[in-house]
Amino acid sequence: LLKYLRKSILNGCEKHKGLNRYLSTQVTDSSTKDEPKFKTFEELIDFRSNQAKKSLLIQVNSEKSYPELANYCSQFGEIETAYHYTVTNDVLHFILLEFKEQSGFDEAFQNCSFDMQSSNSIPVASPFLWFKAEGTKKSLKTASTSNVPNLRPEVVKVIDDDSLYELLTSVETLNDQILILNGATKLNELGMRIRFMAARQFEMALNGLFPYIHVYPFGSSVNGFGRMGSDLDLILRLNDDRPKQLTKSRLIFHTKASQQNDRSRTQKQMDLIGDIMHSLLPAINNVRKILLARVPIIKYNHECLDLDIDFSMSNMTGFYMSELLYLYGELDERVRPLVCCIRKWAASCGLTNSKSPGPWITNFSLTVMVLFFLQNLQNPILPSLMSLIKSALPSDIRVTDDNVNCTFLRDLNKIEFQTTNNDSLQILLLQFFEFYSKFNFQQNGISLNDAKPILKKDNCAIWITNPLEPDLNVSRNVSFEELEKFRMEARDAAWTLESTIDKQKDPTWGVLNLLKGRKRQVKPEMFFKSRLINVTDIFEEEDKRNSNNVKNYDNIQYK
Ligand code: CTP
Ligand code: MG
Repeated sequence: LLKYLRKSILNGCEKHKGLNRYLSTQVTDSSTKDEPKFKTFEELIDFRSNQAKKSLLIQVNSEKSYPELANYCSQFGEIETAYHYTVTNDVLHFILLEFKEQSGFDEAFQNCSFDMQSSNSIPVASPFLWFKAEGTKKSLKTASTSNVPNLRPEVVKVIDDDSLYELLTSVETLNDQILILNGATKLNELGMRIRFMAARQFEMALNGLFPYIHVYPFGSSVNGFGRMGSDLDLILRLNDDRPKQLTKSRLIFHTKASQQNDRSRTQKQMDLIGDIMHSLLPAINNVRKILLARVPIIKYNHECLDLDIDFSMSNMTGFYMSELLYLYGELDERVRPLVCCIRKWAASCGLTNSKSPGPWITNFSLTVMVLFFLQNLQNPILPSLMSLIKSALPSDIRVTDDNVNCTFLRDLNKIEFQTTNNDSLQILLLQFFEFYSKFNFQQNGISLNDAKPILKKDNCAIWITNPLEPDLNVSRNVSFEELEKFRMEARDAAWTLESTIDKQKDPTWGVLNLLKGRKRQVKPEMFFKSRLINVTDIFEEEDKRNSNNVKNYDNIQYK
């Protein structure tokens, strides 16, 4: 497996050198492998949503059920593709099956039934099914696989540390290590598909009441910085994207008036939807409503998809922010591997902690910091957001419900900026650490909009301008202590990288030393003790704030 993975990742890298943007489109859309043409974010979202609309997720006894299942499903329409994966330590087996045409899915869906023997189940229909295999000699014999696509084995779990370290040891250069790290941890094709299935489940469940409903994955699942095992962020919109000709219609729906303000209405609706999720929707477990937060969310776990999901209904700012990060990731092939490596470094030395909110830097802020660094090189690799805003076309205008202007150029084929910087990932990684160990955080703030340091707008530890709402700071949760830790770790990382670049002299060289070496230097008992104290404090704080009805929830602060 390791050999195969290494070969395929490095082959990808080889192709990548010649074909601009190949690797990143490979992650986001396997069907356009041979077309390096840039895909807009909306095209990507539409493509994936349509795929999910034609897909069923079917629990089976094992992958051996595939021929029988595929034969059975072929009566409804031609099968486009099928993936097999397991969850819960290989105990539960699933096949994700996509039909070629929507009619194939519709026909199959109409022919599904409920388990008549189980009288206590609630008959809610969804694309999550199980297949009653006959497994008789006759059924196995008649199940020919000649007309159906081969079953593709895939994983939805994260590569384990030992395999990753083995991969990283086996290559020769630091550049390859960074590419391998990115290739082995990034979201794979199946990971992307199942995230859109989670969104589809809501659309199908609520479609009767809200025929114009849209549920969008956003955040790292779609901005190209996602990793296997990353949580999924979903946003539900009850009535956007409505075709223009319909809004001009003279036939108007009767609707129920709501007396509440926007925030109370969203809380009420989420409360209701949370109850529906908890009581009615299959495979959704451990539903937790966090409705008093500034951005109310519902957290839950999806059993069939093995995913932790954050679900919200507020405005589209987070979605457009994901679009902006996606564009920056698409602009240069070095952006995503570099961000990946820096995120991994930050996690391994305890600078980020995606499992709980707190005074530390988030992955999102860290990503913005990397982008800002790439804008600030002597030969910049990325353009300012201001220039993308200036070149926006009328079709790029987006303003959210609460009047946040999210307009910027969306078609990168039209962008004028071109970098002359050819530095390798190895050089950039080192420069990143040097840049931030010397950055004047006391006076200056980070702004993608200006692409240069700005004067800080208040006396918080780090100022990172929210690109879409420039008066706000996306890292206002970060404490002075955490900032100091970040600077120290960045300085040490620069030193470590410079001194352990030679594979022959150091068995844990390069990125390995960066990831593993740091871990070794942290005394485990001290690390965990201090973290626990912080986390408890934060939850107590959080409870207090919630009981005062003050809006705040660090992990999901969009402002
Ligand atoms: N977001 C934002 N403003 C913030 C924080 C988040 O607009 N202050 C948006 C961004 O689009 C971000 C998304 O919300 O990508 C999801 O936030 P989060 O889950 O914290 O970050 P991810 O980018 O998804 O990273 P991770 O893999 O750690 O989940
Ligand atoms: Mg996320």
